Amino acid sequence: MNNLRIYKGADYNDMSRKAASVIQSQLTVKPESVLGLATGSSPVGLYDILAKAYESGDVDFSRAKTVNLDEYQWLAPDDEQSYRYFMQKHLFSRVNINVDNTYVPNGLAADPEEECKHYNYIIEHLGGIDLQLIGIGHNGHIGFNEPSDEFPAKTHLVNLAQKTIEANKRFFKRAEDVPRAAFTMGIGTIMNAAVVLLIVSGGEKAEILKEAFFGPITPRVPASVLQLHRNVILAADGAALSLFPAS
Ligand code: GLP
Repeated sequence: MNNLRIYKGADYNDMSRKAASVIQSQLTVKPESVLGLATGSSPVGLYDILAKAYESGDVDFSRAKTVNLDEYQWLAPDDEQSYRYFMQKHLFSRVNINVDNTYVPNGLAADPEEECKHYNYIIEHLGGIDLQLIGIGHNGHIGFNEPSDEFPAKTHLVNLAQKTIEANKRFFKRAEDVPRAAFTMGIGTIMNAAVVLLIVSGGEKAEILKEAFFGPITPRVPASVLQLHRNVILAADGAALSLFPAS
């Protein structure tokens, strides 16, 4: 795939460092960039590096705007498990971004359909996404676009797959506390981003990562759609890349 560039890191920290340098370069070249951001354990190290780079004067978020991929339904922004809370904690409170320029779907929206329309409007109004950071779920999901029969174009409310609930329960006190539904940006929106930066670490993601890039393009493996994107950067560690033919 000549639209895929691979930055291979030795381990999680090295992958995070390489991914952070991509975001720093993006903000240097275009300080008013619209960054699509992600949550989960994969980007924690990268956000920490960006916060430290800000402290040492090496990156400036003052003109940046951000749109997050997803948010759990019915979790309030100040709920420690919400993705808004995660973003505040790991990045927004640690850099000079104007919080009014940061967007995360409103998990408490009384009218989910309206919330989806509103989120689509925000992304369009910002002029689309310059760089979209994503992780990959164990079942190949990106954002919360779960395996299904079609690639959803825009923001929608999804019922989370059992595998996702299982994987994410580690962040909650009890498995029953994991929300069953979430708002997520659609695959079409992710595909419209000028650059997609995918970060993956650990041997347990090796199989799904190989399937995503070397298997058939199918909504049963949502990340496989990235084979059709014109500009994908994959920052991954050796363990995640261990089943890649070229590595
Ligand atoms: C979560 C998020 C995704 C994330 C994925 C992997 O459910 N909605 O955006 O990429 O699962 O998470 P992790 O990085 O913790 O493996």
